[in-house]
Amino acid sequence: MASDATPAAAVAVAAANVVKKPKLHGRAFYESLGSPKYIVAPMVDQSEFAWRMLSRSFLPESEQSGLLAYSPMFHARLFSESQKYRDQHFQPTKPDCDKLYLDGNPAIDRPFFVQFCANDPQALLNAAKIAAPYCDAVDLNLGCPQGIAKKGHYGSFLQEDQDLIHQLIKILHENLDIPVTAKIRILETKEATLKYAQNVLRPTASILTCLAATGADGIMSAEGNLSNPGFFAAPPPAGQEPRGYWRGKDGKGGWRVDEVFRRYLDIMHKGHPAAGPRRPQKTARRHHQGQRGVDRGPTCRHAAAPVHQLRHLVSRHHDVRAALARARLGEVAHHEALCRMVEKKVAEGLLEYEASGGASVEADMPTTTPEQEADPESSARAIRECKRPWWVVQPIIRPLPKEAMAKGAIQLSKKERKRVAAEMEGKEEKEAKKSKEGLGGKEAAVTGSLEKTTSYPSSELVSG
Ligand SMILES: Cc1cc2nc3c(=O)[nH]c(=O)nc-3n(C[C@H](O)[C@H](O)[C@H](O)COP(=O)(O)O)c2cc1C
Repeated sequence: MASDATPAAAVAVAAANVVKKPKLHGRAFYESLGSPKYIVAPMVDQSEFAWRMLSRSFLPESEQSGLLAYSPMFHARLFSESQKYRDQHFQPTKPDCDKLYLDGNPAIDRPFFVQFCANDPQALLNAAKIAAPYCDAVDLNLGCPQGIAKKGHYGSFLQEDQDLIHQLIKILHENLDIPVTAKIRILETKEATLKYAQNVLRPTASILTCLAATGADGIMSAEGNLSNPGFFAAPPPAGQEPRGYWRGKDGKGGWRVDEVFRRYLDIMHKGHPAAGPRRPQKTARRHHQGQRGVDRGPTCRHAAAPVHQLRHLVSRHHDVRAALARARLGEVAHHEALCRMVEKKVAEGLLEYEASGGASVEADMPTTTPEQEADPESSARAIRECKRPWWVVQPIIRPLPKEAMAKGAIQLSKKERKRVAAEMEGKEEKEAKKSKEGLGGKEAAVTGSLEKTTSYPSSELVSG
């Protein structure tokens, strides 16, 4: 089964360089991390080393260690068995020696949790033991709702098997030197969620992350962070904007997309001062249309172009969209050319803005009616407040549930549809009875049903 397993000795030697801390739990553990208030969520293919560095870079240096970041979810069995898989995703030490390098480097990438998906306790432990010397905790993904998780029987699909969840947490708790944490989904009722959480905490998981707002110590962000890696940083005071931060005539601003892109490229291709430069890598012929030996730059795969942050820019500049589609993953030259294109577009946009006294973007800025402003089920106000010119990174505002359903963008799950249908039937019967008795009208029944339709639990929504 294990075709290219790492010699355990290599891992052990590197691990010996890392100072062991006493194993803490719960609040004591959280406080030992510096009580981080900001948390970069685990994101498959996104929360890799370069992304975590980029997110940290927007905070003042003194605050960077207050940002806890998760690795993307790794597949425990592949992680423990395949050196190739690890090399692609996890580089805690230099390739040719045991010197600390990128992921989890205490000088630059802490606090740091490594997340795994698993359904086999031993495979999870094997993977966790490899990662443990380079992170502050190992996290078990119990929240992933995607089809791939259903197929592989992990993530939220383990919910059905509480005994297995218990075993997975227990084996880590009993055999790892560092704490174990878990990220779960909120269930349909508070009672069910509490029971679930108690089972997860029983063996004991040190921190539990739920996919919902509670009276929380910190805030975890996935999509917000993805569309704006400076999400956690306070905006600079007016008049003290650094290069790369733009503020408009209305006082609203944000990080410029070309600044974000350039920073990301620098991290990917030049390395980090504390970790040392990246080693150039020879390109295989099949990857480079016959140009053997061309320098591809980074030795790692953290080289995806920043698609999410460019979203607003490419919706206007289709030539950049086309170049983005053509850009090869990891090719320094392609990324550099793309970044130059972005820089040029932004410069043109800024000049036009200045020349027109700000009028060049006014037409793009959304307006709202007083009714929309007052309507809690309308996203119009949030869009108006968050919208920035296309050269600034900004969030993607999703329609609220009622709006999304009206557009057909989301649907209720089968289970929820049944529940709503049953409720509507019951309501209609009640209303019919009431109207017979002269105590209400059909209008009330319809409004009531519609309101019910939108009040489904968040656990039924398909998200990241
Ligand atoms: C691109 C993407 C990848 C994600 N990958 C993971 C993952 O690997 N593990 C996990 O537990 N959650 C994953 N999630 C879920 C997020 O961690 C987070 O719980 C969810 O997006 C809700 O947070 P948000 O509203 O800030 O986006 C992912 C979300 C996104 C958008």
